Amino acid sequence: MKHVLFASLLLATGTPTLATSVELLHWWTSKGEQLALQELESALEKQGFSLASTPVRGGGGDTAMTVLQARAIAGNPPEMALIEGPGIQSWATLGFVTDLHKVATKQQWQARFPDIATRINTYKGHFVAAPVNIHRVNWLWANKTVFDQHNLTPPTTWSEFFLVADTLKQKGIPALSIGNEHWQLAVLFEVLALGLYGSDFYRDLLIDFDESLVSSQKTVDLFKTFRQLKPYMTDPSATISWDSATFNVAEGKAAMQLQGDWVKGELSALGYVPNTDYYCLPAPGTHNAFIYNVDSFVLFRQRTETSDRMANQLAETIVSAEFQSRFNQRKGSIPILNDVDMSPFDVCAKASKQQFDHAQANDSLLPSMSDSMAVSPQRQEAMLELINHYFNDDSFTEEEAISQLMKISASEHFGS
Ligand code: BGC
Repeated sequence: MKHVLFASLLLATGTPTLATSVELLHWWTSKGEQLALQELESALEKQGFSLASTPVRGGGGDTAMTVLQARAIAGNPPEMALIEGPGIQSWATLGFVTDLHKVATKQQWQARFPDIATRINTYKGHFVAAPVNIHRVNWLWANKTVFDQHNLTPPTTWSEFFLVADTLKQKGIPALSIGNEHWQLAVLFEVLALGLYGSDFYRDLLIDFDESLVSSQKTVDLFKTFRQLKPYMTDPSATISWDSATFNVAEGKAAMQLQGDWVKGELSALGYVPNTDYYCLPAPGTHNAFIYNVDSFVLFRQRTETSDRMANQLAETIVSAEFQSRFNQRKGSIPILNDVDMSPFDVCAKASKQQFDHAQANDSLLPSMSDSMAVSPQRQEAMLELINHYFNDDSFTEEEAISQLMKISASEHFGS
């Protein structure tokens, strides 16, 4: 265990105080994400921990997961890592994670979390990760000035989207800001699938890979529509990050972005205000559904006597209502705890909470495929590859895409 001298405490008390250094591996590198991390840093500092941040660039976290695997194999995992979805189960199966049963019982996690959080974060009936939030993926972020100037209303359906996009194109404004990265394209693809054909289609195609649906006309049309979006984008070949894409919208260089509410964390960090500078609205055609993405911290087992105690202590801070309130107001998400007072949150977060509760009651709470919330990391990777290939290679036909999708569907059935 590493100890560092805490200069602030030294100044305050005049006596040197040793804080325990805790390394966190993550991919939170944008401005808003950094501000949220600072909340974690100060919450942990109060408990005598000093956060050592190891950022690995790349929205969605794919690169971070590769680095984590390499480090774990080399016997040098960090104390904490940001992990999402079924990946948590894989780490638990391999025996890398700390059992958080003690703190979960003490803080009554199961009763205070939505069921999806319990499912994702438990292994053999015990919590093995501390969830910190719920992000909604199916949002539309729209620059208010651009819409006002051109007397336009943000689209609520995909037909409206194409009408608005055509008008904006005539005025020389790209409708959509996006970076040509596997993960960003996959977010757009899943939001489009939901918006065009609804929750059942989304679930059957992107989570269950129902074979009869894979080859349906709807799936062919989904691919076609996805490609039709290209002319309405900022340079579709530019591999800009999601937060650079957000900046384009904030600056009015593009009208909209379709991404999760980490975008709101970014807009807030840049000083923009909802309903004054931008609108936060459900992605076209998705007002009744909620694609979720939960960020969890896995506490990696260390070869020290105090490893388990320390992990439970860290988790207690992460799941505390006070921290979750402060952190999520920065991050753009809503707390995972269902009893946090939402009054200090902004209108977008309040809308998200309402929509989450509604979707939960109406069976339209959907795990994000692009963020690997439900499908295995192998299948997610294959899907991201396929979506990326289809988008970037215009000679790759819908029929070829469908036959690739069939293979992805069959491989998982074969493997399970
Ligand atoms: C994470 C968010 C993060 C976003 C962009 C998502 O996978 O859940 O916490 O802000 O990626 O980096």
